[in-house]
Amino acid sequence: MPLLKILEFPDPRLRTVAKKVTVFDADLKIQVDNMFETMYHAPGVGLAATQVDYHERLIVIDVSVEKDQPIVLINPVIIARTGDQLMEEGCLSVPEIYAEVARAAKITVKAQNVDGTEFELEATELLSVCIQHEMDHLEGKLFVDYLSPLKRERVRKVLEKQRRQRKAKANKKLVEESA
Ligand code: NI
Repeated sequence: MPLLKILEFPDPRLRTVAKKVTVFDADLKIQVDNMFETMYHAPGVGLAATQVDYHERLIVIDVSVEKDQPIVLINPVIIARTGDQLMEEGCLSVPEIYAEVARAAKITVKAQNVDGTEFELEATELLSVCIQHEMDHLEGKLFVDYLSPLKRERVRKVLEKQRRQRKAKANKKLVEESA
C-alpha cells in the first residue's frame, strides 16, 4: 500500500473544511488502511484525512505504546466535554514544532466505524487531546492557530528553513550519486 503525502503548514489545502463521509465502501477502507500505514510510518499517533489532501471527515489514531490499538473515527462529533488539560502537542503537518495547547480533559465522541456503524467513545489524557487535535484538522484548523501571531510566524519561518535544508541535502545526495 502506498504512503500518502502529508501536507505541511502553511499549505492552504490544510484549511479545507472536510465533508461528511456518506459512502462506506471498499475505497473508504483502502483510504483508512493507507492513512494508518502513513501514520505509523511517520511515525505519529494520529492523522486526519485533511492532512493527506482527502477532504472527508475521517481520522485514524493509535496512542498505544505497542501500536496495536488502531481507532478509526468517521464523522466524529463531540457530545460531551468536561474539565481542562494542558498538553504539549506536535503535528505531522508542522514537523518538529511543539507547543502547549489547552483542551477539554474528558470527552465523549460519537462517530461511525469503517462499515458505517455508530459508536460512542469516552477519552481522557492523550487520547482525548489527540481526538480534539485531529478533529480540528477536519475544520481546517491547526494547533499553531492557538499560538500568538508572532509565535505562529516564527513557526512558519522555522519550517521554511527545514524545507530549504531538506532540499539542499537531497540535491547534495543527487550530486554525490551522479559523481
Ligand atoms: Ni496534526
